[in-house]
Amino acid sequence: MTHTTLAKPLLCIAHRGGSQQFSENTLAAFEESLNIGVDAIELDVWNLGGELLIAHDRRLGKTLPGGGRLIDQQPHQLKELILACGNRIASLTEALQLIGDRATLNIELKSPDCAELVAATLESFVRDSGLGFDQYVVSSFDHPQLYRFKQRLPQVKRGILVEGIPLHYAAGFDELDAYTFHPSINFINAELVNDAHRRGYKVWVYTVNEEDDMQLMSELGVDGIFTDYPKRLMTLNAQCC
Ligand code: G3P
Ligand code: MG
Repeated sequence: MTHTTLAKPLLCIAHRGGSQQFSENTLAAFEESLNIGVDAIELDVWNLGGELLIAHDRRLGKTLPGGGRLIDQQPHQLKELILACGNRIASLTEALQLIGDRATLNIELKSPDCAELVAATLESFVRDSGLGFDQYVVSSFDHPQLYRFKQRLPQVKRGILVEGIPLHYAAGFDELDAYTFHPSINFINAELVNDAHRRGYKVWVYTVNEEDDMQLMSELGVDGIFTDYPKRLMTLNAQCC
């Protein structure tokens, strides 16, 4: 029985797929989150030897078995690995096909050189599937790379990831012409949220897992949260207002 009440519903973004049963960033995790009706799915993408594969860590050893730097691995070897949940590493194309238009998809550019390949992949997927670009948001902590993505495929929305509190809050990002501003819960405050809103951004905060923090985010007027526990947020959203 929860006593937490949200001031307003929050967009539910399944962080790394948000699964409670499957390894993060897998197709099985995405399917589980789609089945419970999340608003959006977030995944992390790397350009590994010319293939876009979905993973978070820069080294093997946590979700991917083995050791060493992810960037040093051959894509065909990575695709042979069996993860703890029994699934394999997925490609961006497989995720695009699975998700279709069932949810918003936030693609986080993780590796240093993936903007061009992500743009080309999205472009050809949208052309072949007949879907639009509207359900995609491409984000990154690597702002120069996000800028290159904007130049290559401006019709896809962009999200600005920040870790701390920038000196001038949400100012200074105008050239990215972004849709969303993605600050960390570890550095959130009302000034940052309000400044981002004043500048026309929606505010999506990562990574919010506990109910009291979900309540705080709704009180701060945040628009959406990345969570590893999407069901938890969806229950609160359903009880709200
Ligand atoms: O995109 C939000 C969040 O995923 C950013 O941090 O390290 O979980 O990719 P990380
Ligand atoms: Mg991420």
